[in-house]
Amino acid sequence: MKHETIRIQLDSEETPKNYLNILPHLKNPLPPPLNPETGEPVSPDMLMALFPVECVKQEVSSEKTIPIPEEVREILIRSGRPTPLQRAIGLERALKTPARIYFKREDISPTGSHKLNTAAAQVYYAQKEGIERMATETGAGQWGSAVALACAYFGLEAMIYMVRISYQQKQYRGTLMKTYGAEIVPSPSDRTEYGRKVNAENPEHPGTLGIAISEAIEDTAKNDNTKYTLGSVLNFVMLHQSVIGQETIAQLDSIEETPDYVIGCVGGGSNFAGMAYPFLAEDRFKKVEFIAAEPTACPSLTKGEYKYDSGDTAGMTPQLKMYSLGADFVPPKIHAGGLRYHGVAPTISALVLEGRIKPRAFNQIDALNAGVQFAKSEGIIPAPESAHAIKAAIDIALEAKKENKSRVIVFNLSGHGHFDMTAYGDLMDGTLNGDV
Ligand SMILES: Cc1ncc(COP(=O)(O)O)c(C=O)c1O
Repeated sequence: MKHETIRIQLDSEETPKNYLNILPHLKNPLPPPLNPETGEPVSPDMLMALFPVECVKQEVSSEKTIPIPEEVREILIRSGRPTPLQRAIGLERALKTPARIYFKREDISPTGSHKLNTAAAQVYYAQKEGIERMATETGAGQWGSAVALACAYFGLEAMIYMVRISYQQKQYRGTLMKTYGAEIVPSPSDRTEYGRKVNAENPEHPGTLGIAISEAIEDTAKNDNTKYTLGSVLNFVMLHQSVIGQETIAQLDSIEETPDYVIGCVGGGSNFAGMAYPFLAEDRFKKVEFIAAEPTACPSLTKGEYKYDSGDTAGMTPQLKMYSLGADFVPPKIHAGGLRYHGVAPTISALVLEGRIKPRAFNQIDALNAGVQFAKSEGIIPAPESAHAIKAAIDIALEAKKENKSRVIVFNLSGHGHFDMTAYGDLMDGTLNGDV
């Protein structure tokens, strides 16, 4: 039987040639981003001061597909695309489930996660427009590593504000970014007015993605020839990640499988969207259940409110209509730093509101235990973020076992956890707080 194939590998020529845009597939038009000062829809000029022009055009594009530049596609291929889709046969056996579980290997990228898919594109567009320096924030460091490498490839400087608690928990991430030539500081930092203000109020502040974003935006505004780069939330980022789902569909088609469930973890939403949107865009997948896995410590989708809110803590970004816990929410110091974001992409928020995407929240002990079970049965240490998706997949596989139903489950393994071993160490030492 074809679905007994364990590793489904496409040829490099089969790497997607176009990005897929979800906007034309939404039931209702997305509420526009608002200028935080006037409350009016933002002008493209405001966005172009921050982002490469091409990204702003993509942000509002109503085209169903957008060509991937050849230089970017070449980097995707050098980074291992198309990434394998793998059957989790060891996990299935360990769970004694009749479900068939597949996972997409975004962990094989040189920087360890899906983030290079969009970093390569954003830095390429910036370089084409004559930009020499990129500023950004990073949580767990996966995004910062991807920006650092993309800047190294295209010869730009990279300035990275890394959330302080993650900077302390994941020291070697910082070393990796420096190896690629980036400059990196813990946030809140003393480099920006906003960072200095937060530090003055609380010198021990663990930092949040919202604060680090404010610092990177202030840096962009104050430095010549610098653009800001964002690793999630906005439509153009979701678009760049759509290579994940497009490949997965081709891989499943090649073994004549149709998923019942498509799962991803959600911080700002980019790896989930990258996997799910190509399925959502096709009518033949209308029966698929889409599960967005988030932490109970930062439950933007399950406990947040659907409202206009700021993307950063200082209120410098446009206001976005999204599920949010409030821009000043400081999440507990969980190891899944990439999921410590108060909001979620407006497109995902709209699809949750429609009921098309179902969120589920997991605490970090349950998620990391799922990560350990996956490591034991598949050999791969997942990123703590990805472990949330694994926990959701395991729960669904066990439900299938209880009901004795064969189910096809696909999840995105958004990254590996080789720089996150403190998380697994703390889990094994019993020092983790799961009560959040
Ligand atoms: C491995 C990994 N997965 C998931 C995420 C969450 O981000 P997003 O929701 O944009 O995929 C991150 C963010 O840093 C990450 O590093």
